[in-house]
Amino acid sequence: MSSKKIVLTGDRPTGHLHLGHYVGSLKNRVLLQDKYDCFFMIADTQALSDNFDNPQKVVCNIEEVCKDYLAAGIDPCKCVIFVQSLIPELFELTIYYMNLISVARLERNPTVKSELQQKAFSNAITAGFLCYPVSQAADITAFKASLVPVGEDQLPLIEASNEIVRRFNRIYDSNVLVESQAILGKTQRLIGIDGKAKACKSLGNAIFLSDSSDVVEQKIRKMYTDPEHIKVSSPGKIEGNVVFSYLDAFFEDKEELESLKKKYRQGGLGDSVLKSLLNDTLQNLLNPIREKRESIDKSFVKDILSSGSKKAGEVAKETLREVRSAMGLNYGYV
Ligand code: TRP
Repeated sequence: MSSKKIVLTGDRPTGHLHLGHYVGSLKNRVLLQDKYDCFFMIADTQALSDNFDNPQKVVCNIEEVCKDYLAAGIDPCKCVIFVQSLIPELFELTIYYMNLISVARLERNPTVKSELQQKAFSNAITAGFLCYPVSQAADITAFKASLVPVGEDQLPLIEASNEIVRRFNRIYDSNVLVESQAILGKTQRLIGIDGKAKACKSLGNAIFLSDSSDVVEQKIRKMYTDPEHIKVSSPGKIEGNVVFSYLDAFFEDKEELESLKKKYRQGGLGDSVLKSLLNDTLQNLLNPIREKRESIDKSFVKDILSSGSKKAGEVAKETLREVRSAMGLNYGYV
């Protein structure tokens, strides 16, 4: 192994990736892959924790997410892209780590708590869902990742992982496991096109990397602006105005953007002008991504996932060997 720091992050394959993923994480990963040893995981097992009754939804999105990665510029020659469920070592680690955290601690985890509020099974939490933070600790530590690029909603999970790491190292008197640190993207939460919540696969309010240019245009046309800005000449509001949120995230010329904001506030700048500027900006970004996506064939994706999962498996196997040895489970026979 090289002496570069190790990066690991993942996505649940429950749908195609959208602009929120791009600006919050994918764009950053493209830079990280040049500097660090990067592992990008398609977290199918974690996705099953709240989609166990519809595994097909997860299965059919694995290759789609991989295509989104490649189209966004993640380069399989520079990093390892793999599928979580193909690495059984992760699940053995999960079982050992489950002894190192209390149920109360998991129930109090803010990420788990807020997800539970959105899910149907809030009255009958499954053990699988409650324990997914433990499995996420296994994902991170199996690769000895010290850097984890995530959205800020994931911070409590990294904290839980570090707690497990400290307990493990203390109880088994080892230094096998490595603590990790989150890397937060520049734009934390891209708002949905309806202006109501964060852009999200399940809410249908996101612009996907795979959307056709017509669909992108339609979505921009429907974007929530300032409902009281009826006449071009009247003053408009920037706060809560989705078009401006997207321009903030994607329009490079910040000076020009400031002067547009000023003009909008004063009155005299129409929504349609802004929407057309946003449309140009997003089409310029998305056209090459979509073209690249369409040129990727299925067998290439399968090869990437297959060789990536093999490599990831070797690394996880070595960590598991060290973990078992630290715990005294090195029996010397199979
Ligand atoms: N929880 C992450 C998400 O919902 C996905 C994920 C799984 C992950 N394992 C991880 C992220 C390990 C970072 C590190 O998007």
